[in-house]
Amino acid sequence: MPEPLHILVTGSSRGIGAAILQALGAHEVVGHSTAGGDGRIAADLSEPGAAEGLWNTALERLGGRIHVLVNNAGIFEAAPLDAGDWTARWQRTQQVNLVAAAELCRLAVLHFRARGGGGRIVNVASRAAYRGDSPDHWHYAASKGGMVAMTKSIARAYAGEGIYAFSVLPGFTVTGMVEEYLESRGGIAVLGDLPIGRPATVEEVGETVRWLAVDAPPSATGAAIDVNGASFVR
Ligand SMILES: NC(=O)c1ccc[n+]([C@@H]2O[C@H](COP(=O)([O-])OP(=O)(O)OC[C@H]3O[C@@H](n4cnc5c(N)ncnc54)[C@H](OP(=O)(O)O)[C@@H]3O)[C@@H](O)[C@H]2O)c1
Repeated sequence: MPEPLHILVTGSSRGIGAAILQALGAHEVVGHSTAGGDGRIAADLSEPGAAEGLWNTALERLGGRIHVLVNNAGIFEAAPLDAGDWTARWQRTQQVNLVAAAELCRLAVLHFRARGGGGRIVNVASRAAYRGDSPDHWHYAASKGGMVAMTKSIARAYAGEGIYAFSVLPGFTVTGMVEEYLESRGGIAVLGDLPIGRPATVEEVGETVRWLAVDAPPSATGAAIDVNGASFVR
């Protein structure tokens, strides 16, 4: 039986993050959410600098060694063109979805290099990274496109040191977040363009993340894996 890996999963209080935690049950996992609770580390990633505190606390809880970082925390808030605070909405989404994730990736790479022995990063992006999103969500699509480009850059830069990076691109996935989205876009009819006939389940995304974090072959580094029921094929 191989040694359990030490893993930090952000945004694990519900939805996809909670399913990732469950899928990684055989490992030593530390979770996180805005307010914490139930063993999770508390950190509001909309606050600049919060990522570093989160990383340091996770490292301490995991005995000074982290093997895998999973960046899952994210927000899907609207920024309609007529919003007076449109730029502030853009900045908040970039901060949570991209900048905080990037800061955690940086700390992970520095840690993996300092400790030797490599490490893995799995970033939960979105189908929106390649397909784009609704008129109120340019900023969301941009944050996820940025995340995929960042992940590929990390994969190319550090593969030779045993540091591997992957992104997962869910389409509609059944969680609180998608229910809000469907309500805002006219309800269940939006699901009509899903060839598989249903949204993805959080368990399907959780299992994809587990595979990338634990089992995927090193040569797959840099891959961006779709989990969208063929609703967007590229
Ligand atoms: N659901 C989908 O259809 C879908 C599709 C494509 C991609 N995704 C991506 O998958 C990931 C998870 O989505 P989900 O649907 O499971 O979302 P969710 O149910 O809304 O959960 C989001 C998670 O992120 C955390 N979070 C939100 N804002 C935060 C902040 N400011 N600081 C720290 N943590 C914060 C939440 O913690 P709290 O409980 O403290 O708020 C929660 O744990 C996201 O990155 C999302 O963009 C989802």
